[in-house]
Amino acid sequence: MIKAVRGTRDLLPPETALWNFVEAAVRDVFRAYNFQEIRTPIFESTELFARGVGEDTDIVSKEMYTWEDRGRAESDRGHSLTLRPENTAGVVRAYIEHKLWDRGLSKLYYIGPQFRRERPQKGRYRQFYQIGAEVIGPSTAGSESPARDAELLELLATLLDRLGIKDWNLELNSVGCANDRAAYNQALRKALAPVVPQMCADCQRRAVTNPLRVFDCKVPADQPIIEKLPTISQYLDEPCRKHFGEVQQILQAVGVAFTLNERLVRGLDYYTRTAFEFTQGALGAQNAILGGGRYDGLSESLGGPAAPGIGFAIGEDRLVLALSESAEAVKHRPDVYIAPLGEGMNREAGRLARELRRHDAIVELGDESFRLKKSLETASKLGSRFALIVGENEVKSGSFALKNLETGEQVSLPREELGRTISQSK
Ligand code: HAM
Repeated sequence: MIKAVRGTRDLLPPETALWNFVEAAVRDVFRAYNFQEIRTPIFESTELFARGVGEDTDIVSKEMYTWEDRGRAESDRGHSLTLRPENTAGVVRAYIEHKLWDRGLSKLYYIGPQFRRERPQKGRYRQFYQIGAEVIGPSTAGSESPARDAELLELLATLLDRLGIKDWNLELNSVGCANDRAAYNQALRKALAPVVPQMCADCQRRAVTNPLRVFDCKVPADQPIIEKLPTISQYLDEPCRKHFGEVQQILQAVGVAFTLNERLVRGLDYYTRTAFEFTQGALGAQNAILGGGRYDGLSESLGGPAAPGIGFAIGEDRLVLALSESAEAVKHRPDVYIAPLGEGMNREAGRLARELRRHDAIVELGDESFRLKKSLETASKLGSRFALIVGENEVKSGSFALKNLETGEQVSLPREELGRTISQSK
């Protein structure tokens, strides 16, 4: 038997109803905050992620699905392509490619699959879905303002509350900018020098190439060492300190609670200044329901103009997991099951179904070969609210038996009244 590839999965009904419910709610919230959708390809040049996300990150160094794409002709040059492990680099590439700076501040959102070769477990998959947003533009359009950071965080708090996600915690930090990073890296290297021989091979490499990435280490034995390393907060320059202070003040003013976490550096290289994660206890080990932050230098590192930006990505799989207790609320059920009784009745049932669907009813259609008992049982199994019986007598008289499957009550109604009766009882 051929099975789905490890770390990938099928989303089946009724769970897909929950995904649709989440996506509809998210689109509503984005609309209210004046965001518009962007769709970028699911594969891009490998170089985009190497330069955007960073060579030393776990994502780029271990987790990408990369292949050499030969051209169709011998003369075509091969390209190294990668299934996107995240969507920020792709959005910023599109921003540069289509000169979106002409439009002022771009407020973009996306919903789609991402791919990382991680060890699969509950809440962690190799194909997973993100709901993300990016706010990017020239700084003259306000893209650098702490008001953008606070507004995005407030949007997220509103969204999680609206979806009924309880007990979320916003963890907040500032990871500084290019200006203070050099001094911090120096301090980190100095602190690491005497202890690094005791650390894992990855950390030994990171200590040389990109010491900030030491904080991504998950090896238990390294944690006591990592806990003693200096934190970036002591090295922030004055503008970064001020920016971070402003973000916190606006959050307090609008009533969004947060916890400062000096160790939060995020696993991607592009972050500057504000970095954040929302966690939710019920999710267990994979408790980060979303993450994000500022990336004021990303556009330039991809060859674009200065374009400060900030964004986030929600792990949709984890969001749905956190919601699945309330899944009952969005369960899909038909309004009416039409039971054609006897030869020739499929035609009549088809006509009625068409009429009722025009009244916005959710209609499930049986088959004229089914006995009434079987039809009624199927209707109940589907959770249908009504069953409509369409036999020769009904068609002749123009009056149809409508059975309320919740109360057991049955009435006889002229066809003109069926649509109204069914939709009114919703
Ligand atoms: P990230 O922290 O790598 O950030 O991913 C964001 C979220 O995606 C995580 O918090 C988690 O919920 C979900 N996620 C990540 N990996 C997996 C996985 N293997 N299985 C299930 N869910 C997963 C980013 O991707 C950045 N692009 C976010 C961003 C946007 N920063 C600025 N703009």
